[in-house]
Amino acid sequence: MKKRILIVGGTSGLGLELARIYSQDGHTVCVTGRSAPELANIQYEALSITSDNATLQTDLDQLVSSFDRVNTLVYAAGFLQRGTIDTLSDAALQQMTNVGLLAPMLLVQRLKNRLDTPLKVMLITSSSQYTPRELEPAYCAVKAGLGMLGASLVRDSKIGKVLVAAPSGINTNFWSGETESAMTNDADKMLSAAWVAEQVVELSSGSFKYKYAKILRNPPRTEIQEVLDNQLNTLL
Ligand SMILES: NC(=O)c1ccc[n+]([C@@H]2O[C@H](COP(=O)([O-])OP(=O)(O)OC[C@H]3O[C@@H](n4cnc5c(N)ncnc54)[C@H](OP(=O)(O)O)[C@@H]3O)[C@@H](O)[C@H]2O)c1
Repeated sequence: MKKRILIVGGTSGLGLELARIYSQDGHTVCVTGRSAPELANIQYEALSITSDNATLQTDLDQLVSSFDRVNTLVYAAGFLQRGTIDTLSDAALQQMTNVGLLAPMLLVQRLKNRLDTPLKVMLITSSSQYTPRELEPAYCAVKAGLGMLGASLVRDSKIGKVLVAAPSGINTNFWSGETESAMTNDADKMLSAAWVAEQVVELSSGSFKYKYAKILRNPPRTEIQEVLDNQLNTLL
């Protein structure tokens, strides 16, 4: 069955590669971000998530009316934010919270129950979901929170399948603000966004209610951490 797939953070990197795959497979895809991608047959809706909560709520209302009847929400928005907690401004912490946690919660809240079929949710976290990092306190916190959001949504019988995918370093614009010397991730050892997108699509297929997987590098591989069926019995 062809689906209507909303990819938040689908204008570049992993989200864009997912959009490419789903569009080629005949699904109807809408991507959001701050700059329009050059990809045919895909709807683009501008969405800039800032530290302003009121604007975020209004913008998400607008988004779900501009692209309605969503079967699958892919939440791939995220950005690198480096610094110890005392060097991050109030606005920076609020923006990270909004991009990483509040926006996906507000979207699931808005999209649930809109169709007769339950909403499928795919959340892109990070190795920062399970690896504490001194210079990424807020990023690690929101990614861990996003993973727990997915694990909790699964307990809601009116939500469909939930995938939590936690990739390691990917060679994308995510790193564009980093100086080479500051980068802990060597570009040549990073995963390609196209390969990670293939893993995410593969992980999301088949019968399950919840799946949590790490997508690792050196060597590139996928390690499934947990799978639950519809009765929340552990399959893996
Ligand atoms: N790259 C890595 O090493 C890595 C590793 C682990 C996890 N991840 C996660 O993977 C996901 C995809 O990242 P990527 O590597 O593909 O990076 P990317 O190419 O920079 O893509 C990030 C996406 O998020 C959107 N976005 C970022 N900040 C936003 C904001 N304030 N408002 C609205 N949209 C915003 C971007 O849209 P615009 O640019 O159009 O605004 C873009 O579509 C993210 O959640 C990231 O945290 C990345």
